Amino acid sequence: MNEQNLQQNAEKRKRVFSAIKPTGNPTLGNYLGAMKYWGDMGKDCDTLFAVADLHAITVAIEPKELRENSKRLFALLIAVGIDPERDVVFLQSHVTAHAELSWLLNNYTMFGEASRMTQFKDKSKKNPDNINVGLFDYPVLMAADILLYQADIVPVGEDQLQHVELCRTIANRFNNRYTPTFTVPVGKIPTYGARIHSLSDPTAKMGKSEGEGDGSIFILDTPDAIMRKFKRAVTDCDTEIKASESKPGITNLLTIYAAENDITIEQAEREFQNCSYADFKKRVGEATVETLRPIREKYEKLRADDNALCELMKMGAQKAAYLARKTLDKVYKKIGFVRV
Ligand code: TRP
Repeated sequence: MNEQNLQQNAEKRKRVFSAIKPTGNPTLGNYLGAMKYWGDMGKDCDTLFAVADLHAITVAIEPKELRENSKRLFALLIAVGIDPERDVVFLQSHVTAHAELSWLLNNYTMFGEASRMTQFKDKSKKNPDNINVGLFDYPVLMAADILLYQADIVPVGEDQLQHVELCRTIANRFNNRYTPTFTVPVGKIPTYGARIHSLSDPTAKMGKSEGEGDGSIFILDTPDAIMRKFKRAVTDCDTEIKASESKPGITNLLTIYAAENDITIEQAEREFQNCSYADFKKRVGEATVETLRPIREKYEKLRADDNALCELMKMGAQKAAYLARKTLDKVYKKIGFVRV
């Protein structure tokens, strides 16, 4: 490739930002639905991934749990394929620009707009004793996360699209009030990821909370735990291994197997044509054990050396802070703050 081509390529490279909260324990659903693809994304795009620890305190959390969850998630992101050298992976609280920009953006966000966020309404209902201002402000911090890095694309779950829309509104308002400052990002629900349901209630999403019991496969589960949970997975009363609306349990297991092997549901159905439910569940369990094994092994290596893990965190934070500071400085200047 000649120099000109290289440059054109560099210009076309999109910047992708996403973040996940260190609450609960990441599941097979998180992996097959999103995390599995995050490593590859860095080949064609400039990618940034944050552990959204500042977002995690909007719902009460024990200090020990926040600390452990944050380290676990950071190590897991690397274990699933994000490259700490090539990509930018960091803890949100390590880059103070997030909190700073979020205060500034509060003043360009209307109370009515934030009040319409369905996640705020849902969470208020679920935690009536702790409807704090942080919970209300959550989407503004999220807008700061995205806008600091001039991200073009924000891969998110469906429940977060409304927040990305609000981020666009804020960015446009700021750009129009002053001069173009922020890239207006696009929220994207990945089309490749599989939607995985609970093994014990296949009509519900596979949940991240530890209390979910046998319905959730956690990425770091031991092979024994994985096999036990698949053995107990809900099926239905006939014997046919075919995906259909009336067979959510079987459909879920086929979806898991297909996603793990990068094949279609139809191909998976064919593989299990004359299989009993018991054998089918065992084989999906085995496939899951093998899918998760290398991730768990890499994770354990990363967690075995806390100093080395902290160094990786520092490296990510430094790279992120450099980019974030550039945007933040511009924002301060445009608003009219005295810079010395
Ligand atoms: N709110 C997101 C979630 O719950 C996590 C998040 C925080 C995020 N900041 C973000 C996602 C910025 C995308 C972009 O899943």
